[in-house]
Amino acid sequence: MQQQQGPRGAFILFEGVDRCGKSTQTSLLAKALQSKGVAVESWNFPDRKNTVTGHAINEYLAGKQDHNDRAIHLLFSANRWEKSDALLRALHSGTSLVVDRYAYSGVAYSAAKALPGMDAAWCKAPDAGLPAPDLVVYLELDNAAAAARAGFGGERYEKAEFQDRVRAAFQQLKEPSWLVVDASQSVEQIHEQILAEALQVVRRCKEGQPIQQLWGAAAAAAGEDRTPLAEQQQQQQAE
Ligand SMILES: Nc1ncnc2c1ncn2[C@@H]1O[C@H](COP(=O)(O)OP(=O)(O)OP(=O)(O)O)[C@@H](O)[C@H]1O
Ligand SMILES: [Mg+2]
Repeated sequence: MQQQQGPRGAFILFEGVDRCGKSTQTSLLAKALQSKGVAVESWNFPDRKNTVTGHAINEYLAGKQDHNDRAIHLLFSANRWEKSDALLRALHSGTSLVVDRYAYSGVAYSAAKALPGMDAAWCKAPDAGLPAPDLVVYLELDNAAAAARAGFGGERYEKAEFQDRVRAAFQQLKEPSWLVVDASQSVEQIHEQILAEALQVVRRCKEGQPIQQLWGAAAAAAGEDRTPLAEQQQQQQAE
């Protein structure tokens, strides 16, 4: 039985393939929560600006620099670890975070490369122990609908065939707790479904629902330590 913690902000994550509407919905949700008096910030990963890894990731995505595939995967993971302390501080200070992409994208895009030795299990390993989101909103959109939206940019990964493989990789990562939303609906319809769920999650976190770690379900199945992060930190301080 996990102990309840003090009030805290909620970590709400948007995931999905390119063009499914993550940035649109992140921004709408953050505004809606704010208008309801919730302290909230919008974040997105990779953080290309305020991190040591951000510049290298930016050059890679822009196609200006190649990297070993394992190395770039680890850089993306490191980018999340670089922000993890600030992320926890924000949650513990009572600020909710609406986040555009995180570790699930990290795994899906690398696993979609289908390279020998870089299967989903390998790709997940470096993110194990990161703060886990309280809600994952998965915006589901097929390739034809995604392609019909404003054209892909010139960045690496923005190719229809690769996006199909990313979509398949996300399907493998999907957990029963995810809120899966049909992203072919109107912006407003999608937003309303998400807002209702997000408000409940914000309330539960305010009541002290413990922060979990990635990869929650996998860690439980393997019988690994699932001690909530805040509890671990208290234990470390006591030692
Ligand atoms: N529900 C919707 N119906 C139609 N068009 C939409 C919808 N949601 C977003 N769009 C449009 O689709 C395009 C992509 O949306 P958005 O940038 O929010 O997606 P994204 O998932 O953040 O994409 P990326 O992965 O490339 O960052 C934008 O032009 C946006 O205005
Ligand atoms: Mg976006």
